[in-house]
Amino acid sequence: MSGFFFTLHQDHQRCDTEMLSLEQSANKPDWQQTKWILARVHKHFECHFQVEEEILFPSLEHYLGQSMGPLAVMRMEHDQIRHLFRDLESLIEQQKDRDFNDVREALFILIQQHNAKEEQIIYPMADQYLSNDSDQILNRIISHLSDNSCSQNQS
Ligand SMILES: [Fe+2]
Ligand SMILES: [Fe+2]
Repeated sequence: MSGFFFTLHQDHQRCDTEMLSLEQSANKPDWQQTKWILARVHKHFECHFQVEEEILFPSLEHYLGQSMGPLAVMRMEHDQIRHLFRDLESLIEQQKDRDFNDVREALFILIQQHNAKEEQIIYPMADQYLSNDSDQILNRIISHLSDNSCSQNQS
């Protein structure tokens, strides 16, 4: 079975593709389509965050700590990303395209920085520290990501 880095890096790439489709739609702008794509992208990120917050990070807390350190920073950044998604959802209702694109760009940069940290620090540590239980933990991650409510939004 592939490791944590490979599996979650692939899911980051799917998130990147969806952020690109959101940008293309917002530049038209077609608010109805953008609203639909935003809901799909937001849902996909929520699924990705759930596997990290509920499966991967708890498995790593023994090695990296819980209330401080890199996992606490990752959880805080997830909340910042969720906040910007909610801002986008309210700006879509107001059809403010300039504000929408400013927040979308801020969100894109935050996501890139966040994902880079996970790929440089968290996932390699997971591959190193969790090697004994990796099959069982990865199975839970893959099964959550391919669950109907998550995978149907990745078309
Ligand atoms: Fe994350
Ligand atoms: Fe991630």
